Amino acid sequence: MAARLNTSLHNALSLLNPFNTPLNTKAFYSRNTFRFSKKLQSLSGKRALYCTSSSLGSQENGVDGAETFVLTTPLYYVNAPPHMGSAYTTIAADSIARFQRLLGKKVIFITGTDEHGEKIATSAAANGRNPAEHCDLISQSYRALWKDLDIAYDKFIRTTDPKHEAIVKEFYARVFANGDIYRADYEGLYCVNCEEYKDEKELLENNCCPVHQAPCVARKEDNYFFALSKYQKPLEDILSQNPRFVQPSYRLNEVQSWIKSGLRDFSISRALVDWGIPVPDDDKQTIYVWFDALLGYISALTEDNEQQNLETALSLGWPASLHLIGKDILRFHAVYWPAMLMSAGLNLPKMVFGHGFLTKDGMKMGKSLGNTLEPFELVQKFGPDAVRYFFLREVEFGNDGDYSEDRFIKIVNAHLANTIGNLLNRTLGLLKKNCESTLVVDSTIAAEGVPLKDTVEKLVEKARTNYESLSLSSACEAVLEIGNAGNTYMDQRAPWFLFKQGGVSAEAAAKDLVIILEVMRIIAVALSPVAPCLSLRIYSQLGYSLDQYNSITWNDTKWGGLKGGQVMEQASPVFARIELNPEKEEEEKKPKVGKKTGKAKVKVEQTPTVAEA
Ligand code: MSP
Repeated sequence: MAARLNTSLHNALSLLNPFNTPLNTKAFYSRNTFRFSKKLQSLSGKRALYCTSSSLGSQENGVDGAETFVLTTPLYYVNAPPHMGSAYTTIAADSIARFQRLLGKKVIFITGTDEHGEKIATSAAANGRNPAEHCDLISQSYRALWKDLDIAYDKFIRTTDPKHEAIVKEFYARVFANGDIYRADYEGLYCVNCEEYKDEKELLENNCCPVHQAPCVARKEDNYFFALSKYQKPLEDILSQNPRFVQPSYRLNEVQSWIKSGLRDFSISRALVDWGIPVPDDDKQTIYVWFDALLGYISALTEDNEQQNLETALSLGWPASLHLIGKDILRFHAVYWPAMLMSAGLNLPKMVFGHGFLTKDGMKMGKSLGNTLEPFELVQKFGPDAVRYFFLREVEFGNDGDYSEDRFIKIVNAHLANTIGNLLNRTLGLLKKNCESTLVVDSTIAAEGVPLKDTVEKLVEKARTNYESLSLSSACEAVLEIGNAGNTYMDQRAPWFLFKQGGVSAEAAAKDLVIILEVMRIIAVALSPVAPCLSLRIYSQLGYSLDQYNSITWNDTKWGGLKGGQVMEQASPVFARIELNPEKEEEEKKPKVGKKTGKAKVKVEQTPTVAEA
C-alpha cells in the first residue's frame, strides 16, 4: 500500500501556535558546535555553521571552568522491564562517562524512560494496570537495574514528568512558528513496536517489520506533519561537511543514502492514541512519541526546582556531546532529530554513535521478540564488573555480538580472575611473607632502567586513545595487555626464588614487587571506567582509602604513584573465579596445575539464562 499524503489542509496551520511564543531567533552558540540562526536555516542552500573538531567535542563553558561533556542513552520504552540489550547501551555510556570524568570534565550523563504512546498503553492494559502505574513500575525497574550495574547517571528523565511536557510544548510551538508543521491525511503501514510508519519497500513478506518480525498494520489518520523534506539539503550539507557527526563511519553511509533517496515529511501526532502529550490547541491528538521523547535529552538538563523552559534547559548543557544509541534508532537521531532542532533554531548534538545489537542465536535480542537475556539474573550471578567487562570487551563497539554463557565465563575467568586478580594476589602474598606488606622503595626508583615501565606507558596511552574514540573493546584489551606484561615480568623475574637466595637478590625481588604492584595500580585506574568495583577493590588492597579512589584522574595512570613505606592490605581475591560445573571446572583447571592461585569460586547453578521479558 503506497503511503499517500494529502496536504490540502495545509492552511490549518494558522490555528496553531497557541502560545504566540516569541521566538528567540538567536541560536545558542558554543565553540566546536553546530549552530543555526533563523537566517542560516532558511533552507535556501546557505551553509550551516558546523563543528570541525576531530574528536568527541565538549563544551568549554562549564560553570567551574571545567569542560562539560554531555552524553545520553536512549530513553527506554517502558512496555516491559529492561533486558540485556537495553542495559548494553547504558553500560557503554557509563564507561564513557566515567572515562570523561577521569579526564577532569564536568560530565552530565543522561538516561531515562520513554513512557508515552500506543505500545506503552497496550502493554499497561495487557498487565491490568493503568498507564501511569505501569510506567512508574517499569521505570523503577530501570533505575533498579542501573543501581545493580553501578551506573552513575547524573540525570534520569521520564517523559511523563511535567517539566518534560512543558518543554515539548514549547519546542512544538517553535517548530510551528517556523512554518514546519501542517495538517494532512496519512495512509500507510504502521509498526507499533517501532512506533513508525514504514515504507513498503523496507518490509519483509506479509508486510512484516524486519526488526520485529511482526506484520505492520494498515492505518489511516488525519495528523500533523513535520516538514522534514525541507531539511534535505541542510542535512546533506551537515553530513558532508562534518562526517564525524554519525559514527561509526559505516553508519554514515547508511544515513547518507536514506537522505539521498529523498526525505518525506513525517506525522508528529496520533489521533488514535490518548496516552501522550496533547497537541497544543488540539486535544484530540497527542504528540507522536518520537517528537516527544527526543526532547527528553533537553528537558533532562533542567533542575526540578528551576524554571522549566527551553531556554533554561538549553543553557544548562545543550548541545549534547554524544548521543549513544542502537543502530535501529539511527534514522530518528541522525535525520529526524537534527532537522527538528534546525527547525527550532537550536544547536545540533556533536555526535551520534549507533552501536550494534546483542543477539541471541543471530536474532536481535528484544522485548518484542521475547528472546532476551535477563540482566538482573546475570548481575546477581556474576556481579556488575563481570557483566560490564564481558559485553564491552567481547563486542566490538559498533558491531553486533552474540552472548553465550560458556564464553562469558571463559573470558571473565581468564581476564579478570586470572590475569588481573591472580597477579595481585600472588604479589601481595609475597609482599606479606617477605616485606611485612610494606613497599621498600618508591615505584619510580624501583623501575629505573626497567623496560616494563615503558611498555606500560605505551599501553596506557593506547587505552586512552581507544576510550577517546569509543573503541571500548580495544581499550579493555590494552588494559589487559598491561596485566599480561605484569604477569610476564613476574614469571621472568621469579621473585619467590630471588627471596630464597637472600642478599642483593632478595633486595631486587622486593623492588620487583613494588614494580608489579605499581602495574596493578595503573590497571585499577585504567580499568575503572569499565569495572569500577573491581578497580576499587584493587585500590583498597594497595592501601588507599575510598576517598582516594574517588578522586583518581586519568593522570594517575602515570608511573610513580606508589611510594616507599606504603602498607598494603592482606591478599584476598579481588575477583571471584566462576566455577562452571565440576567437569568443566576440571578442564579449566588443567593448564594451571601446580600454581598457587588463591582463587575464590562462585558456583554457577546451571539454570537457563534466557528469560522472556
Ligand atoms: N524509546 C526509544 C528511544 C527513544 S530515545 C529518545 C527506544 N527504546 S527501546 O527501549 O526500544 O530501545 C532503547 C535502546 O536499546 C535502543 O538504542 C536499542 O537499540 C537498544 N537495544 C534494544 N535491544 C537491543 C539489543 N538486543 N542489543 C543492543 N541494543 C539494543 O527505541
